[in-house]
Amino acid sequence: MLTGNEEDSDRLRESLSLNISKKQGEDAIRVLAKLKLLNRGLAPQTADDTLHVPLSRAPQLAEQKQLDRALGKQTLSQEKFPSRSQTLASLEQVLAQQLPSSIIPLISKSFDVIGDIAIIELSPATEPFEKNIAEALMKVHKNVKTVYSKAGPVTDSQRLRPLHHVLGPNRTETIHKELGCRFKIDISKAFFSPRLSTEHARVAEQVRPRECVVDMFAGVGPFSILIAKRLEDVQVHAIDANPEAAKLIRENAMMNKVQDRVKVWTGDARTVVKNNLLGVATRVIMNHPSQSREFLHPACETLRREGGIVHYYTFADGLESESNARKELSAALDNSDWKIEKNIETRKVRGVAPMKWHIAVDAKLAPA
Ligand SMILES: C[S@@+](CC[C@H](N)C(=O)[O-])C[C@H]1O[C@@H](n2cnc3c(N)ncnc32)[C@H](O)[C@@H]1O
Repeated sequence: MLTGNEEDSDRLRESLSLNISKKQGEDAIRVLAKLKLLNRGLAPQTADDTLHVPLSRAPQLAEQKQLDRALGKQTLSQEKFPSRSQTLASLEQVLAQQLPSSIIPLISKSFDVIGDIAIIELSPATEPFEKNIAEALMKVHKNVKTVYSKAGPVTDSQRLRPLHHVLGPNRTETIHKELGCRFKIDISKAFFSPRLSTEHARVAEQVRPRECVVDMFAGVGPFSILIAKRLEDVQVHAIDANPEAAKLIRENAMMNKVQDRVKVWTGDARTVVKNNLLGVATRVIMNHPSQSREFLHPACETLRREGGIVHYYTFADGLESESNARKELSAALDNSDWKIEKNIETRKVRGVAPMKWHIAVDAKLAPA
């Protein structure tokens, strides 16, 4: 048995389990979900360094081969798991009373909650039931007061998505709590994704006292403000070309009482660096995955002469996604005065499409 004591045992359910190292947990869950092998009614469990993921059925031979290719070493065993919190089941239960049963499996379970606003995904089949879905969501998630649906792809530069108001007050502004910080967010005016919170924490934890960090694409400031909140003795330069985002960073810096160490710049990161921030940074954050590559030169220019750390983000797909992301960074430095002194870590931040990921490459850069 993986968890629980005698009292818990009657709440545990037996299931086939895929066992894999914790480090590969996110990848495993993504691949299993894609193969429809994930048992979503039960909660994965950890024991020492192993993650046990409940399966809905045994993988077929071809599926097992896919798992082996994507994940490498893993084992299967029979384990006991606790039921998941009733959230998903209840959403389905609430909807089951109102909608045709053929519609229930088509409802996307992936939605974002930002403050008290939920953003859902609808398809042509589920759109006619948008109000029922939003109502059920608000019943299950009592903190959600307003629901919007995605109404198109994100724009290239500001990373904003058109939204359609479904239910609740038609208000796009909210306060979102992340990692002990509070953020004022306007989902119609500036980019924010709650799915990046682990990444915000991961980068912030690496920053040491007396560093100078340039956050080139700061959004509403989740990296910048968390870094400044964790360390008193730090200087952060938060840049965003979207004036609405820059305005929100200023407000968020005040709200989190870190305005003395977060300097906000409104404008194109290239121009801001060239005019104000040459040779100052120990670390640069480049979270604009669709365009980071074009900004690598100014990222190098803002680093101190002895070099520093770059958190480079990109999108990459396929089995070689991580090494391709590293190659992209290295190629972008060709014909420049800079080189990679050390590849520190490469990590899949989140899946953005089947077998396509938002990838982080942390590297130490130095003059060539
Ligand atoms: C993917 S968002 C990242 C936001 C933030 N780092 C986060 O983790 O939430 C990219 C941000 O880059 C900003 N941006 C786009 N082009 C820019 C440019 N040329 N210079 C500075 N900021 C830019 C957008 O307005 C957007 O807020």
